[in-house]
Amino acid sequence: MKNIYWNENLIRKYDLQGPRYTSYPTAVEFQNDFPIDAVHEAAAASRAANRSLSLYLHIPFCARLCYYCACNKIITKRREKAIPYLDALYREIALQSELFGADRLVEQLHWGGGTPTFLAPQQMRDLMHELRTHFRFMDNDQGDYSIEIDPREADDETLTTLREIGFNRISLGVQDFNPAVQKAVNRIQSEELTLGVLRKARELGFRSINIDLIYGLPLQTPDSFRKTVDTIIDFAPDRLSVFNYAHMPQRFMPQRRIRDEDLPRPEDKLTILQQSVDQLIAADYRFIGMDHFAKPGDELSIAQEKGELHRNFQGYTTHGDCDLIAMGASSISMLDRCYYQNCYDQESYEAAMAENRLPIIKGVQLNDDDVIRRKVIVELICNFKIEYRRIEALFNIDFAHYFRGELSILQDMAEDGLVTFTRDGLHVNPTGRLLIRGVCKVFDRYRTQAQQGFSRII
Ligand SMILES: C[S@@+](CC[C@H](N)C(=O)[O-])C[C@H]1O[C@@H](n2cnc3c(N)ncnc32)[C@H](O)[C@@H]1O
Ligand code: SF4
Repeated sequence: MKNIYWNENLIRKYDLQGPRYTSYPTAVEFQNDFPIDAVHEAAAASRAANRSLSLYLHIPFCARLCYYCACNKIITKRREKAIPYLDALYREIALQSELFGADRLVEQLHWGGGTPTFLAPQQMRDLMHELRTHFRFMDNDQGDYSIEIDPREADDETLTTLREIGFNRISLGVQDFNPAVQKAVNRIQSEELTLGVLRKARELGFRSINIDLIYGLPLQTPDSFRKTVDTIIDFAPDRLSVFNYAHMPQRFMPQRRIRDEDLPRPEDKLTILQQSVDQLIAADYRFIGMDHFAKPGDELSIAQEKGELHRNFQGYTTHGDCDLIAMGASSISMLDRCYYQNCYDQESYEAAMAENRLPIIKGVQLNDDDVIRRKVIVELICNFKIEYRRIEALFNIDFAHYFRGELSILQDMAEDGLVTFTRDGLHVNPTGRLLIRGVCKVFDRYRTQAQQGFSRII
């Protein structure tokens, strides 16, 4: 069944800038000088509630620079740079375990980057051992333990090690298979190499494989990207992320090496997106929302069908009830009403950990209104609908009264067919799904007309 429709006029009308809502309030609302007491209180509440944990570890190193990259990374060929960073990470793991409790069950684990497989196999073993010493892991392979892999940094030994130490999901960065595009972004990665990693991962019994692609990269054409998507479809990953290239050269210096005149024209970008959506739907992928596709049998698709999908700083997740504890430079933790972020650079991070001090630089404490709006935005972005009664029962409000301004703004979108008002709620129609950020933004109290600093929706 097609769960997404294309309408070019509406896409042009509503394709404004907007946050990706991996959290509400978004990271832009975090304040400096966030009181450390707030973190201690949130940790105590988390311990008392004994919720399961989702752990995120940030490994920032990459051996080579991809010009398009907007991730928080450190480019270096010097593998020894990881040694002091790992020492600091060990200290943080111990500190967080003390704060949150060593008996807390880890339902979800994610190592992201940068490139976590920059680490040597023995370093990865030691790091996992440290985590298992300080938290309680599931030993039956039922946890969701995932890692981001650059196929150029993942030989058979690396993959075997990852599976042995308990990972059961992987995400592979591919972006585009066209050699000219790869050259223009300084990321040469053959189909054979990617396919080899994928085959090995299947053989080793990883239960879910995700692939990242980016559309809008230099020298991409509708024809060239169609071939990339066809090749990926042949690989049959369980999940796919098709990201819109966020080109912000003022913010990300290496992007200045990408020439403006090489970027696809806006109309070509729209064509690329439309045909990719069509190809993936025809290949039986479901559009989960916000750049993500999954096979119908994948847990994300199943959770969405049941209305149980959630979203956090790791993207879509089936573990909405977990507290997210993030470790390493720049990582963001989410605990009930308290979000906070670690310092960005390696030096400050290692300096803080040398003093056994939480390396937090900013954060936000949610008020009652934030919590209500967060729930509404999560419902929209994950399940494409709001049932007023559910929100009313949870927060003791009259939805139509509380959100009277927002509902009147949404009339315009309803007239355009993006959303439909029902007797007891609001549905996002297949036409509105690609523009879901725009629908969510109506409920975002912090967004003004200025829309500074966010990438375009499409
Ligand atoms: C941390 S990287 C993935 C792991 C590994 N470093 C790799 O590149 O294979 C996360 C993903 O972010 C996406 N990404 C990075 N920069 C981007 C940008 N400027 N716009 C859109 N997506 C981007 C890429 O698809 C990339 O695979
Ligand atoms: S895309 Fe991945 S490998 Fe390339 S620079 Fe970014 S984090 Fe590193």
